[in-house]
Amino acid sequence: MFSPSGLSECLREWDELEKDYQQVQDTQRLYKQKLEEVTKLQNSCSSAIDRQRKKLKELTASLGKCKGTRPTDLSPEDMASIAEIKESIKEKTDTFFEMEAFLPKKNGLYLGLVLGNVSVTLLNKQTKFAYKDEYEKFKLILTVILFIFSFTCQFLFSYRVLDALFNFLLVWYYCTLTIRESVLISNGSRIKGWWAFHHYLSTFLSGVMLTWPEGALYQMFRSQFLGYNLYQSFVQFLQYYYQSGCLYRLRALGEGHNMDVTVEGFQSWMWRGLTFLLPFLFFGHFWQFYNSVTLFRMFQLPECKEWQVLMCGCSYMALFMGNFLTTLRVVYQKYMGNQDKSKSV
Ligand code: COA
Repeated sequence: MFSPSGLSECLREWDELEKDYQQVQDTQRLYKQKLEEVTKLQNSCSSAIDRQRKKLKELTASLGKCKGTRPTDLSPEDMASIAEIKESIKEKTDTFFEMEAFLPKKNGLYLGLVLGNVSVTLLNKQTKFAYKDEYEKFKLILTVILFIFSFTCQFLFSYRVLDALFNFLLVWYYCTLTIRESVLISNGSRIKGWWAFHHYLSTFLSGVMLTWPEGALYQMFRSQFLGYNLYQSFVQFLQYYYQSGCLYRLRALGEGHNMDVTVEGFQSWMWRGLTFLLPFLFFGHFWQFYNSVTLFRMFQLPECKEWQVLMCGCSYMALFMGNFLTTLRVVYQKYMGNQDKSKSV
């Protein structure tokens, strides 16, 4: 690095720095001006979308009335144009959803409570992909830690304190997931409501497990619980492989990389991944069912005094039903072609 030695060199350097400083000021002024322009554009775009939505809603209601009151007065052409308009309204609604993913919006109740009124919208596709990628990596790292932790509790040390630490880590992990998923949803991710809710429920379940006092009943369920967590970490690892594979292929599709990824190629990879993953997922769901049945049986024992037994039993049953039915629905929708991911690229 150049460092001036004599005074004349220092003065020359100072002059240059002054010029450079002016440049910095100009760039910063331009940046602020552009930011203001962007904010104005964002506001006008948001209000235009709101206006369109309102009018489309009114139009849908009016079309419904036209069709409902005197259907015999309408010719087949009229009926066809009504159906066409309705289809187009549906497409527009989907497009608005995608447009809004790039516009700042007010946080929902949960994010508002956790983060306050700060915008979490990421304004370009690369940042969105990077955030999602980071979310998947975060899950992977925690999965490995949780695997090691549950292995240690299951096979190496049997201390209630260690179990409590494990459950505390689970509470923190699921809580963090709910926040990250809310940010992802704000940014246009199509995560189904159940998967987000499933993490709230898992936070609750881990919290209840944390408060379950040491005793005969706790010990009765402990090994099954830790075994289930070991298995879940393993399935989560497979899920990571599938989800991040989808993410990279979608990115390659969207950016037109010369990675030889086509819509058909993506679909066929996705089906192969799903076919491999599904048996493991369903086995996990039935393990949740088994946990629930075990806990309900324990609840009927005369020595059962802990409220946690019934609470955990109900939570596992809810997890089983929600996960099983939602997975079936996702697979069915994909099969029927309703869930064409390539559209969202
Ligand atoms: N958790 C968080 N996000 C999920 C998710 C889950 N379980 N399942 C799907 N998503 C996300 C996807 O990443 C995608 O996000 P994007 O819009 O930002 O790209 C969006 O939701 C839509 O995904 P979709 O196309 O519906 O499903 P998919 O092909 O990505 O995944 C499954 C389908 C069935 C593999 C996946 O939902 C899954 O793993 N479900 C099982 C979860 C479970 O039961 N866990 C307990 C195991 S014991």
